[in-house]
Amino acid sequence: MSKVVVFDHPLIQHKLSIMRDKNTGCKEFRELLDEISMLMVYEVTRDLQTEEVEIETPICVTKTKMLAGKPIGIIPILRAGLGMVDGILNLIPNAKVGHIGLYRDPKTLNPVEYYCKLPEDAEHRELIVLDPMLATGGSASAAINFIKQRGCHNIRSVNLIAAPEGIARLQKDHPDVDIYVAALDDHLNDHGYIVPGLGDAGDRLFGTK
Ligand code: PRP
Ligand code: URA
Repeated sequence: MSKVVVFDHPLIQHKLSIMRDKNTGCKEFRELLDEISMLMVYEVTRDLQTEEVEIETPICVTKTKMLAGKPIGIIPILRAGLGMVDGILNLIPNAKVGHIGLYRDPKTLNPVEYYCKLPEDAEHRELIVLDPMLATGGSASAAINFIKQRGCHNIRSVNLIAAPEGIARLQKDHPDVDIYVAALDDHLNDHGYIVPGLGDAGDRLFGTK
């Protein structure tokens, strides 16, 4: 069974509360998602491999550590996942970025794919799938299916807010994928929205409603 990490850091919780507020506008919403993504990735990457290297400081030669192992790929699920990319690239500037376009059919709540472009060497990378909302889990599960069809196996999911239903679905479909969330909310409403949640992440991020 995969690991679920819920971030209880005060800075993350504070910023997320402002994002949840319906009176928070597009610009501030975008900035906060950017900041929270940057804070989250610090912990999401805690287990990355390092290797000992020798460098010369102005004082002496010393042994120290640098990143080793698989390079990173980040894969935002369009649209709302795009809002998490820049924050992560601030900390991992060499990460390659793939994109998966999915939207949730409002009637069936099933994901509909419209785009998929991954880095050529995706299967050799440690992959981080980004989407602010893990609601039914259908979109994340389908996105990870596409990624696995490309032969990729080292995948983790990073979400701002998850519903218990989404966590359960992702753990059932992809027990090898660890899940990192800033908050685990109460439930889904009849329209598949997370309660209390923050509303429609894509619309709030891009100002489309
Ligand atoms: C939202 C969200 C997820 C999906 C979550 O996207 O960003 O991708 O819904 O729901 P699920 O877990 O039930 O699949 P949406 O379909 O609204 O598309 P958008 O990002 O283009 O607005
Ligand atoms: N997608 C969103 O943007 N918000 C939700 O609460 C559920 C799905």
